Amino acid sequence: MSQRTFSIIKPDAVRKGYAGAILAEIEKAGFKIVSIKKISISKTQAEGFYYVHKERPFFGSLTDFMSSGSIIPMVLEKDNAIADLRKLMGATNPANAEEGTIRKKFAGSIEENAIHGSDAEETAAFEIGYFFAGLELV
Ligand code: PPS
Repeated sequence: MSQRTFSIIKPDAVRKGYAGAILAEIEKAGFKIVSIKKISISKTQAEGFYYVHKERPFFGSLTDFMSSGSIIPMVLEKDNAIADLRKLMGATNPANAEEGTIRKKFAGSIEENAIHGSDAEETAAFEIGYFFAGLELV
């Protein structure tokens, strides 16, 4: 069944000029881009997005990083989109990512790891609503 997920091309990948190549991988894998934009967010806005990780030791550096430059948030659609995007992304730490995954090809470290993807339906709903208004999703 068709499902929506949320993704972000992170500041490291935008800075290095990998955005187009990552979007090509996503489209090649069968995802439809429902909505997409290039923006930058404040530290406070990044903290709101990563609120579930607020007790984690990396919360400060992760939110500094995510507010350090342009990002490309997007809403993607396909059958089994949430799980399939996580598979296409590869492991959080690129050192553990499988060959052929986006993080294996484009990520530099566990923090500067090129791409975000929602991990569950409830998270996808929260994350889509955090970045996109209803009118941007028709
Ligand atoms: S976990 O451990 O399962 O919660 O990890 P995960 O949900 O995959 O990743 C949490 C997000 O935090 C970023 N990040 C780190 N994770 C683990 N360890 C360290 N040191 C770390 N630093 C940053 C990681 O990239 C995940 O970001 P998102 O945007 O969710 O992919």
